Amino acid sequence: MNHYAVVHCGQLVPIKGPILNDGAFIVQDGKIVWVGPTDAAPADLPTVDAEGKVVTPGLVDAHTHTVFAANRVEEFEMRSRGATYQEIAENGGGIRSTMEATRQAADLEAQVRAHQLRLVRNGTTTFETKTGYGLSPKLELQHLDLADAGVATVRKTFLGAHALPPEFEGDVKGYIAALTQVLPEAKAKGASAVDAFIEPGYFTPDAIRPYLEAAKSLGLGIHLHVDQLGPHQGAQFAAEMLATTADHLEFSDEAGIRALMRAGVTPVLLPASVYGLGKGKYPDAKAMMKAGMAFCLATDYNPGSSPTSSLPFVMGLACRYMGMSPAQALVACTMIPSTVLGLQGQKGAIDVGCDADFVIWPYKDYREIAYWIGDVLPERVAIAGKFV
Ligand code: NIG
Ligand code: FE
Repeated sequence: MNHYAVVHCGQLVPIKGPILNDGAFIVQDGKIVWVGPTDAAPADLPTVDAEGKVVTPGLVDAHTHTVFAANRVEEFEMRSRGATYQEIAENGGGIRSTMEATRQAADLEAQVRAHQLRLVRNGTTTFETKTGYGLSPKLELQHLDLADAGVATVRKTFLGAHALPPEFEGDVKGYIAALTQVLPEAKAKGASAVDAFIEPGYFTPDAIRPYLEAAKSLGLGIHLHVDQLGPHQGAQFAAEMLATTADHLEFSDEAGIRALMRAGVTPVLLPASVYGLGKGKYPDAKAMMKAGMAFCLATDYNPGSSPTSSLPFVMGLACRYMGMSPAQALVACTMIPSTVLGLQGQKGAIDVGCDADFVIWPYKDYREIAYWIGDVLPERVAIAGKFV
């Protein structure tokens, strides 16, 4: 079936434009070619009956780490007894423990595919995903090859600068130089951006600046993990670097937020990582909304801080702890990230010309996607018009 109408969408939420009650749209060759009320839809097409349910575009997740093996349940239990993320990392756990597991996994490709299928099952049809658990130039490049399991639309980010590997203990400069050398190859393997974890104990602005400049001169975008664990002027640094996105921002101050706005850097907020670490300090979305900034919400799917593939869960957190409305949260998981990933006009909306990536939810009111907790799953997901 490559030409059909989806009819009787109780709430069709096109994102671009107002909600249509009893809405419909036509899919042809994987694209949306018409949107309107059901009673105006042509009668001579095969139909999919949405039965009065909510239909949204496929969700777009601007920040995930899906190239990893195993999990970190031991650390989860240690944290439940009071250990902190930083203490665990300082004792050889954290990113490095996933690095070990990932380097050793014989079935990494299958594990990556399973992670990415989880995203799709939760309604995500486009996502950015990062390397960052190989932590050698060679493995990071190999992991770029694995980063697209072919289950959805993927944007790949090279995150070699996630943590210092044991082979380069005490030699940040040497590791950064080795990563810099392989940037052209990373680009050739389809990376569209680089990322780095800017935090004491990981990488400092001064150490990483030349690397980011080298990436930029190759035409790679820049995403940065900043101000996640403490107030370290990371937002200011992302602004200075003219990054595409500044991610986390839990500890960014007002001056940092203003700097991002002036520099045109889009924030990517990751409340599930705050929740996942059992913390209470969510990023200041209210200040960003007050300043009129557009920003994304994303899962940060990873085995350490944020073991969730659910954007609906993230939306629920944003509504409960960050002062966002369900409508704002949905836009931050569709239209804004599609723009950030360079896919505006293709993803994140149900609009003529867009790819027919859409989700039928088992609800009558779109706000339920953020409202229900823990069991929010789509009824059906379509990618390029095909139900998956
Ligand atoms: O975004 N902060 C750095 N990266 C991840 C955590 C990675 C891990 O703990 O494995 C994050 O939270
Ligand atoms: Fe992350």
